[in-house]
Amino acid sequence: MTRNIIVLDTTLRDGEQVPGAKLNMQQKVEIAQQLRRLNVDIIEAGFPASSAGDFRAVQEIVRTVGDSVSITALGRAVKSDIDAVYESIKLAQHPLIHIVLGTSNIHVEKKFNRSKDAVLQMGVDAVAYAKTLLPHVQYSTEDASRSEFEYLWKTIEAVVKAGATIINVPDTVGYAVPEEFGELIRKINDRLKNLDDRVILSVHCHNDLGLATANTLSAVKNGADKVECTINGLGERAGNTSLEEVVMGLKVRENVYNARTGIITQELLRTSRLVSHMTGLDVQVNKAITGENAFAHSSGIHQDGLLKDKAVYEIMSPEDVGAESMELILTARSGRHAFKNAVEKMSFDTSDSADFEMLFQKFLALADVKKEVYDHDVFYLVSGHRTTRQ
Ligand code: KIV
Ligand code: ZN
Repeated sequence: MTRNIIVLDTTLRDGEQVPGAKLNMQQKVEIAQQLRRLNVDIIEAGFPASSAGDFRAVQEIVRTVGDSVSITALGRAVKSDIDAVYESIKLAQHPLIHIVLGTSNIHVEKKFNRSKDAVLQMGVDAVAYAKTLLPHVQYSTEDASRSEFEYLWKTIEAVVKAGATIINVPDTVGYAVPEEFGELIRKINDRLKNLDDRVILSVHCHNDLGLATANTLSAVKNGADKVECTINGLGERAGNTSLEEVVMGLKVRENVYNARTGIITQELLRTSRLVSHMTGLDVQVNKAITGENAFAHSSGIHQDGLLKDKAVYEIMSPEDVGAESMELILTARSGRHAFKNAVEKMSFDTSDSADFEMLFQKFLALADVKKEVYDHDVFYLVSGHRTTRQ
């Protein structure tokens, strides 16, 4: 049976932690509106205890889209942070408190300088307090992938008993690899199902080794019910899991994962461009799904194959992600088939094969000096050729 995967977008919280990506309130609201169009299940709107501006932005997002999409905000395992989260999201239709606390030895020793039991108790107290405010509480075991498994599990067990409804397992520093992360999720999932099968198992990956998407998909394969992502993979350091990659990975390879999201994939490109424009952070041209070249084909062999049947070199259609259509870039490596297609698209006749061959040779000469040949170049080339011939 196909499982439904919950998508939490954290572009406005983890994504906004990128240096230089500061967004003002109006921009955050616009992005939240687009995330609603994209049909994400949960928007993580900010970290309200961090500043008065962040608090107000979360409130404004709740006011604008909180009637139709679940809203969460992040706080540390302290009462003042949880109060700030609650106050900023309480008017949303489906508010969710998100608490984070580390479970790895390095976090316990270096960040908190307390005993493991004392840190665990902080988490339990935080969840118990949050439950007095709202029914839905997510608990993130920060640095889970570098934690000792039995302590990690002891923490999960204790916070579930205290009332956590979502357990989020982060690969905070992007250290995990797919086989190992999948195995970690499988082990947690097996125990969690016995403890309380209503609890949602979630993952949150970072991309320091370029493996965030692979780790997230591996987690889904091993039982994760929820994925945390950002648009364009924005986030601390090398970023978070890219929403567009995970969503299309699950869609294109549904036969492998038996899982699907409710994302309206035709909105992906528009969302990516909006976030890029608002943050001022360009999307790399060869970025999967939303990069400028994601559906552009330049080699003659590929162009010839595509013109025979798109499926020869396309695993998803550009229209599925909101792009207009595949793009054939004419270069010196393009063949006769692609050039003919471009000429005919402009309604020029190509039936005289000797004449077309002359034209093709002129095109190759132009392509040798010009790296890429655009539609207007083709137009001038053909009309110039026709005039000199008469
Ligand atoms: O990377 C991380 O561990 C986080 C948590 C708050 C989920 O961002
Ligand atoms: Zn993170």
